[in-house]
Amino acid sequence: MTLIAQITDLHLKPRGLACYRVSETNMLAERAVEALCALDPAPDAVVVTGDIADQGDPREYVVAREILSRLPMPVYLLSGNHDHSAQLKEAFPGYPGLDQGPADRLRYAVTIGDVRLVALDSSVPGAGHGELGPEQLAWLDETLAAKPDIATIVAVHHPPVLTGIHHMDAINLRDGAAVADIVAKHAHVERIICGHDHRGIVATCGGKVVTIAPGVAHQVVLALKDDAPAQFNFEPPAYYLHHWSAEAGLVTHTAYVEKADGPYPFWAGEGVAWPGY
Ligand SMILES: [Fe+2]
Ligand SMILES: [Fe+2]
Repeated sequence: MTLIAQITDLHLKPRGLACYRVSETNMLAERAVEALCALDPAPDAVVVTGDIADQGDPREYVVAREILSRLPMPVYLLSGNHDHSAQLKEAFPGYPGLDQGPADRLRYAVTIGDVRLVALDSSVPGAGHGELGPEQLAWLDETLAAKPDIATIVAVHHPPVLTGIHHMDAINLRDGAAVADIVAKHAHVERIICGHDHRGIVATCGGKVVTIAPGVAHQVVLALKDDAPAQFNFEPPAYYLHHWSAEAGLVTHTAYVEKADGPYPFWAGEGVAWPGY
């Protein structure tokens, strides 16, 4: 069994500042990290699928380092459109995978328990949309071909799919069709995991399931009308727990950062459990 937690879109700010004036992203990231630290069993690793900083500011990476270093398990970082890949890499020396690839790209392949993680850098300096480009696409194909016998998760900040939330689709991964062609060739790719959309969304790409994780801070409003404005709200922050086993493959659970009321037993009556709930 391998258990991987995925948190995404932290949008950390320099100390004392809120994101978009109202989202207390530093505090919300701290709460998410506390929730991960309390998990039993503890995940084997945590993957942070980008938008770690809000503006790629070195002061934001100081905050990120301070918060994420509280996690006792290995932490795998990805770059999003709000990040600055070179600054991010520089701020996290010694973090696994970051010794691979060029200085201004966070792309790497690592093994976590029974699973291989292939992380891509879809950030485009100065742009909201994502793009991998021919060099990284070729690297993805070669890297997947190199280890065909291990279940593989491809992680990329920008979803390579359309979601129906038009203002987010306008800034999705531009070369998603090329990703679809590549992953379709590799049977051992179990999943593509993404962030960026600040909502829990499931889609497919090249015959593979794509899961887009909710944010640990603010969420993007669920709005499927063509002219829906770009807005966020404070629906419950959440993260994903990816559970891999040989029997079931990769199964993903949504978990909420905030504690809910409960738990309660399934009582049918005083001292009697309801048969089969
Ligand atoms: Fe984001
Ligand atoms: Fe993003």
